[in-house]
Amino acid sequence: MPARDPFYIATPIFYVNDVPHIGHAYTEVSADALARWHRQGGDDTWLLTGTDEHGEKILRTARANGVTPKEWTDRLVESAWTPLLETVDIANDDFIRTTDERHETAVSRFIQKLYDDGHIYAGEYEGYYCVGCEEYKQKDELVEPTEGEFAGQLVCAIHSRPVEILKEKNYFFRMSAFQDRLLDLYSRPDFIQPESVRNEIVSFVRQGLSDLSISRSSFDWGIRVPWDESHVIYVWVDALLNYISAIGYGTDDENFARRWPAVQLVGKDIARFHAVIWPAMLMAADLPVPKRVFGHGWLLVGGEKMSKSKLTGIAPHQITDTFGSDAFRYYFLRAITFGQDGSFSWEDLSARYQAELANGFGNLASRVTAMITRYREGRIPDVSTVELAEADGAILATIERVNAAADQAIERLALGDALAAIWELVDELNGYITEQEPWALSKDEANAERLDAVLATAARGVGALAVLLSPFTPKASAKLWAALGGEGTVQESDIRDALNWRGSGQVTPLESPLFPRIEVEAASAPGAA
Ligand code: ME8
Ligand code: MG
Repeated sequence: MPARDPFYIATPIFYVNDVPHIGHAYTEVSADALARWHRQGGDDTWLLTGTDEHGEKILRTARANGVTPKEWTDRLVESAWTPLLETVDIANDDFIRTTDERHETAVSRFIQKLYDDGHIYAGEYEGYYCVGCEEYKQKDELVEPTEGEFAGQLVCAIHSRPVEILKEKNYFFRMSAFQDRLLDLYSRPDFIQPESVRNEIVSFVRQGLSDLSISRSSFDWGIRVPWDESHVIYVWVDALLNYISAIGYGTDDENFARRWPAVQLVGKDIARFHAVIWPAMLMAADLPVPKRVFGHGWLLVGGEKMSKSKLTGIAPHQITDTFGSDAFRYYFLRAITFGQDGSFSWEDLSARYQAELANGFGNLASRVTAMITRYREGRIPDVSTVELAEADGAILATIERVNAAADQAIERLALGDALAAIWELVDELNGYITEQEPWALSKDEANAERLDAVLATAARGVGALAVLLSPFTPKASAKLWAALGGEGTVQESDIRDALNWRGSGQVTPLESPLFPRIEVEAASAPGAA
């Protein structure tokens, strides 16, 4: 087999001006499921996430709360952002904070190199700035409300708050010089996805790129410009560099070469930073650009993007406290086509939980483990010398087919398609058991061989599900694996070869259902409260 590419995937690093909501958790879960899939396939995998802690937005939030910015970011990271990873069961390999010394050192080094190589010059900046976006704005990106609190002022279309006029001596990055190379890059069809995001970026860059102001001197919460201590580096330039500072840029060449370039998973709101500014910075430093940039859709509330600044966020634990982390992960990855926007609803979550997780997968797992325990004392029958029926063969063929389909879907980052493929096996297995009626076969010793074949086939199907669903529902998969007497941990079982598992250990009934019944009242309480 040819060696597979290493798989390095990074989420955005999130602003710690406030606590996370389910939109941030959605990005985490998507990246984590992809990373778990690759890891379980034996790929050299690395999942990076972290926090974005510099800049004016954080500084102002800290001041408003009467603490220093460092106190504020420490508090938020500790109390809210690292706990999020546990809440939704993220198996990240590293967590980077832009206040980490390793990061600050790498950023200084990178910027100094760009300066030495002539990509940076001193100039004068005059224009609009949105602190919410931490972004310089063109006039056509602003709106002028005719009524309300900010009537007659120029307001950021995203944050609905007035922009500020900046007039500063700044350092500039000659980004305009990279326009043609960027457009060439976009002709690589998978560099930016999905198509809608790609089109938007291509037309933005075609309109012409300006140079980018990359420093600020009116406040000092940031990384200092190494050759001019009176400036700090623009927060986006600082933040984007986390993807390489975390893997040893400038300090550990070997690890850097091993990991880079990354798959960059971001919300579409920040695709432009990742598909324009970031590759231009990398080109200037003679480094490879990201493998791909995927801008996923937004979770919407009342048709608008759920946001920290508009206080429309639902806390992830509101969902996991009732439904558990597996259901959270499954629901968002299954219900929303990856790349499109989606609305969260408690009703939809409850309905899918009940139908797909509890009645579909969970019940199947309970039935199969219980029957093997009851009819065969927990031994999965060895049927290597038994002739299988057509229905048994069909199940084995389905395992192989959905395994390949899910793997291909993951390559396309189509997480929902991967789950839909795996669910064909869930549904088919449930139908198989209903048709084969093992409980009826068990009544007559003459059917013993047939019962063996049915139980062994069902066990292989359920074992394959434990393997294939482990990146999505790790806790349920691990419980099922233990009940099936699987060897080692389910994560050690090759995800590209789920058919291989036949089971040789002791099967025991599940101690409790994988997805317990949830009282309707409890399920709707957080939303209704
Ligand atoms: O932009 N639906 O941080 P941020 C889906 N620090 N995803 C959402 C979402 C929603 N309603 N709301 C937020 C920043 N997200 C910068 C990034 S990277 C070098 C610096 C997710 O805290 C989504 O991934 O505003 C989005 O891109 C990100 O959170 C923005 O997080
Ligand atoms: Mg934001």
